[in-house]
Formats: sequence, C-alpha cells, structure tokens
Amino acid sequence: MILVTGGAGFIGANFVLTWLARNDERLLNLDNLTYAGNMENLAAVMGMDRHVFVRGDIGDTNLVSDLLERYRPRAVVNFAAESHVDRSILGPADFIQTNVVGTFRLLEAVRAYWKGLGDGEMGAFRFLHVSTDEVFGSLEPEDPPFTESSRVMPNSPYSASKASSDHLVRAYHHTYGLPVLTTHCSNNYGPFHFPEKLIPLVIHNALAGKALPIYGDGRQVRDWLYVEDHCSALRRVLAAGCPGESYNVGGCNEKTNLEVVKALCGILDELAPRADGRSYGEQITYVRDRPGHDRRYAIDASKLMNELGWAPAETFESGIRKTVVWYLENQKWVGNVTDGGYRQWMERHYGT
Ligand code: NAD
Ligand code: DAU
Repeated sequence: MILVTGGAGFIGANFVLTWLARNDERLLNLDNLTYAGNMENLAAVMGMDRHVFVRGDIGDTNLVSDLLERYRPRAVVNFAAESHVDRSILGPADFIQTNVVGTFRLLEAVRAYWKGLGDGEMGAFRFLHVSTDEVFGSLEPEDPPFTESSRVMPNSPYSASKASSDHLVRAYHHTYGLPVLTTHCSNNYGPFHFPEKLIPLVIHNALAGKALPIYGDGRQVRDWLYVEDHCSALRRVLAAGCPGESYNVGGCNEKTNLEVVKALCGILDELAPRADGRSYGEQITYVRDRPGHDRRYAIDASKLMNELGWAPAETFESGIRKTVVWYLENQKWVGNVTDGGYRQWMERHYGT
C-alpha cells in the first residue's frame, strides 16, 4: 500500500485516480478536506476496496502514526498543502501551519514508523515530497530555466512555506537517513483544477459572461504542464528516483498569461460560442497586479528525462483543449465548487 496525502485536491485526486487505474496496489488517502479538497473529485474510486479514504490532518501525529502502523505503507506521497499564492498573501498563517508545521509533524511520524521497519522494508521505503518551481523565485527574460541546483529564493508566503518544507525533507534524509525524494514542478492544469487558479477561473468567468482578470500587464510567464503528465512523472520518480535527490518536472511550455487567456478564449469561441457571436476575448480586463508577483518561471526537466526516462505525453495545445472540453462537460462539478465560500473569496479578492 502507499499513503497519499492531499489526495482530494487537484493534483492529488488526479494522482489517486490514475494510480488506481494503473496497478493493483492499495492506496490510503489522507486529506482534511479544506475548501480545496473535494470528495467529488474521487467519485470514480469511492466504492473501490483498494482506495481507503480518511479525513484528517497531516499534522495530527496520533492519527498519522495510527494509520502508518495499521496500514503499513511502503511509501508516502505528500501533496497536502495550502497551494494558492493569492490566499497566502491575504492570510499566510494556514500556509505556515500546514506546509511547514504539518510537513514537520508528518516527517516525525513517518521517521518513527520507518525506524521500526525491517532492513529490507527500510531500504525500499520512500517519502516523496511534491514541491513547486516557485521555491526558486523569479527569472529574468534571458535567464536559463531552473535546474535542481538553482538557488532557493522564494518570494511569497506560499513559496517560502514550501521551501521550508523542502528543507525539512532534505534534512530528514541528511540527518536520519530517511529515503526521501523531492520534485519541483511547474504550473499544472487539467481536470478538477479549483477555479480560483488562472485557467479554470478564466473558463468559468468566460462562460458566466464575467470579466477575465489579468494581473498587471499579463506578460508574466509560467511553464504549463498537463496534470496527468505531472502524475506520470511522480510515478516514475517514486519507482526509480534516487533517495536524497530532487527532480524538476516541466513540459517546456513557457507562455505569458495573456497568451494562455487568449488561447482559452479561442477554444471557447469555437466550442461554446457566445450568444452574441462576439469573442470571449472582449471580456479580458486588466486588474491590479499581485503584490510581489514573480515575473517568470521555467523548468529544465532534463535530469528527470535523461536519468529516469520520463517525457510528457501532452503538448500545451492538446492539453489545453482537453481541459476546456473537460470543463464544458463538467459544469455540474464547477457549479458545486463555486458555492458561497468561493463567492466570498472572489468578492474579497477582486472586489465587485
Ligand atoms: P490543492 O490546493 O488543490 O489541494 C491540496 C489538498 O490538500 C486539498 O485536498 C486539501 O484538502 C488538502 N490539505 C490541505 N491541508 C491539509 C492538511 N493539513 N492535512 C491533510 N490534507 C490537507 O493543491 P494542488 O494544486 O493539488 O497541489 C498539490 C501539491 O502540489 C501542493 O503541495 C503544491 O504545493 C504542489 N504543486 C502544485 C502545483 C500546481 O500547479 N497546482 C505545481 C507544483 C507543485
Ligand atoms: O508554479 C507552480 C505553482 O503554480 C504552484 O506551486 C501553485 O500551487 C499554483 O497555484 C500555481 O501558482 P501561480 O500563482 O503561478 O498560479 P495561478 O493560477 O494563481 O496564477 C497563474 C498566473 O496567472 C500568475 O502569474 C498570476 C496570474 N493570474 C492569476 C489569477 C488567479 C492573473 O493574471 N489573474 C488571475 O485572476
């Protein structure tokens, strides 16, 4: 069995669904269902014997220790986190609590469990920590993409909390020998993406006839990866990664935010045209920039590609089209997650 934390969120749920579809191993899913966690994401596997869901906090040491002793996983994949940069700017406390303190407590429980394993099991055990390219800070236009040895220079409370958790994970390997793996991935997109993040927000607002908010000049660059490609990279790192190493994950898809929004508008114009025949692009609206907004992220994933033989299956063009189609076909899912709490966030963050 493997233990997945945060498996009801965007990437975690995609990982759980693809994991259970691909092999016979059981999966224990620990998630405390914050606003970002959604049992609907897991509807396809909820009746399955091989999927055990437990609602709980990675920082609850007693619970995590009990689960480890009871289910005896061979690996932990840690997705659980507060993940939205804008929310971290308005309220950093939850980010420190889950991403730093929670990861620390999870590591402590895992270390105690791991020390009690037999020799063979100890050596084969893995703790895979899912981190982000944002820990490396912001690139200038001419800079080469981030490598695994780029300097850690986080700029937001979110990225600082993720960098802190990365340091703890690294230290547990160096000091205690815990067989850890860390991945740093670029921006993901695809099914089950919560509509506070750029791509699902734009699709949702476009169809609702609302403004498509572009921060600042819209020329910030992100390096986009289809979520299932991130999941395949994590499976590969878990299977073949070298303990103590970190791996960058990305698909060489650098785009400005304006390019992404215009691509979405173009696909929507084709697949779900506006009643008045005009383009969704007319809904683009420039709004106040994000404080401390990182200008550019780009990932060099050659270590993962060359050493572990991973490659993404989707181009940006194929992945973004699949994503729009998924949202058009899953409007009920969107309706259910954009409830009262979501509306309060939108009003607080964007005003009227
Ligand atoms: P998400 O916000 O959609 O999901 C996070 C999940 O963790 C939710 O289900 C939530 O309920 C759960 N959770 C939060 N706090 C918890 C706690 N204390 N105990 C147990 N569960 C808890 O996030 P995501 O976009 O799926 O990101 C998953 C991971 O991948 C995060 O660690 C994030 O930093 C990292 N990451 C995300 C991206 C991206 O583009 N979304 C890119 C690179 C790395
Ligand atoms: O790089 C990986 C990171 O990608 C992950 O670690 C984070 O968990 C994930 O949330 C994501 O962070 P970003 O801040 O890059 O994602 P977001 O979708 O919030 O924003 C993408 C870009 O779009 C960013 O430059 C800000 C901009 N943006 C975002 C929103 C919500 C807008 O211009 N308007 C918006 O309304």
